[in-house]
Amino acid sequence: MTMSSASIAITPFARQHRQAVDDLLFNSYQVHTHMDWFDPIDWLDRFPQLTRLAWHGDELAGVLGVSAPFNGASWLRIAAVHDDAPPQTTLTALWDDLIPQLSDQSAQSVSLLMGRNWIKRFLLALDFRFVEDVVTMQRTNGHLPPPEDSTYRIRVAGQGDLHRMAAIDSMAFKPPWQMTLAEIRQAQRTAEFCTVAELDQQIVGFQISTLYRDGAHLARLAVDPAYQRQGIGSRLVQDILRRFMRHQLMSITVNTQASNLRSQRLYHQFGFSRNGYDLPVWSFQLPR
Ligand SMILES: CC(C)(COP(=O)(O)OP(=O)(O)OC[C@H]1O[C@@H](n2cnc3c(N)ncnc32)[C@H](O)[C@@H]1OP(=O)(O)O)[C@@H](O)C(=O)NCCC(=O)NCCS
Repeated sequence: MTMSSASIAITPFARQHRQAVDDLLFNSYQVHTHMDWFDPIDWLDRFPQLTRLAWHGDELAGVLGVSAPFNGASWLRIAAVHDDAPPQTTLTALWDDLIPQLSDQSAQSVSLLMGRNWIKRFLLALDFRFVEDVVTMQRTNGHLPPPEDSTYRIRVAGQGDLHRMAAIDSMAFKPPWQMTLAEIRQAQRTAEFCTVAELDQQIVGFQISTLYRDGAHLARLAVDPAYQRQGIGSRLVQDILRRFMRHQLMSITVNTQASNLRSQRLYHQFGFSRNGYDLPVWSFQLPR
């Protein structure tokens, strides 16, 4: 059955719709999810405010979920359209319903990491534009320089470190790349390796890494800007590479923005090079 454009109704997401959303994400071809540290349904349970559902009768035709603006920047986390629904009409209806609430919450931009191409033409019609690529760098060589004497102590992060880590993250990154405290907490909880660098018992930088099949991914690295260019970032990377090697994890990846040449230089020094797996970031600017 094809769903007609005329009969689409938009509602906010509510908990009783979790199963319908889960089914839509599982069954549809046109699905975008960019969850980072959350499972889509967990994310909806915890941050349901900016998610809209499109209905054709009592059948779910589409879903659009955006993160709450953090320093003005939101991310489009979930977008999906039922295979029988008209994609542009459905996405536009969802988007038009969301925009006033985003404006009320002082959002300045909504960004999207484009994992799959299907959504591109529909986003163009909604005035999203390409911003830059996120590049992937990979390290396959096992050699590591010997550890240097360092004034910085590296230790495993704990619950009590999360506020300071979130503060460093917000100082080191600009919107839309900053992580909220809730995201840092979730990352620390789910990541395999989360370490901090300390100077005089004050945290000055941190890294968060995850495991996948036979490799590892350095998911986050940040140093307090007041302490950058003193070797702390390098020290954190060297330490985590050592831990990976102890676990026989030979394939290591990391992502960074194409424009972030400083981090790329650092990773390059540790044997990382771009592997060609780049993902475009698109963004919508809300009128001020
Ligand atoms: C990328 C980042 C983690 C690097 O941290 P850092 O502690 O400054 O890193 P290092 O000090 O080890 O190296 C950075 C530079 O300082 C230089 N440096 C290191 N020790 C130094 C010292 N004692 N004196 C002078 N310069 C030094 C390095 O040679 C390097 O120079 P380069 O940028 O010209 O190549 C930090 O800049 C940051 O938090 N950036 C924002 C977040 C980010 O981009 N994260 C990574 C991408 S996801």
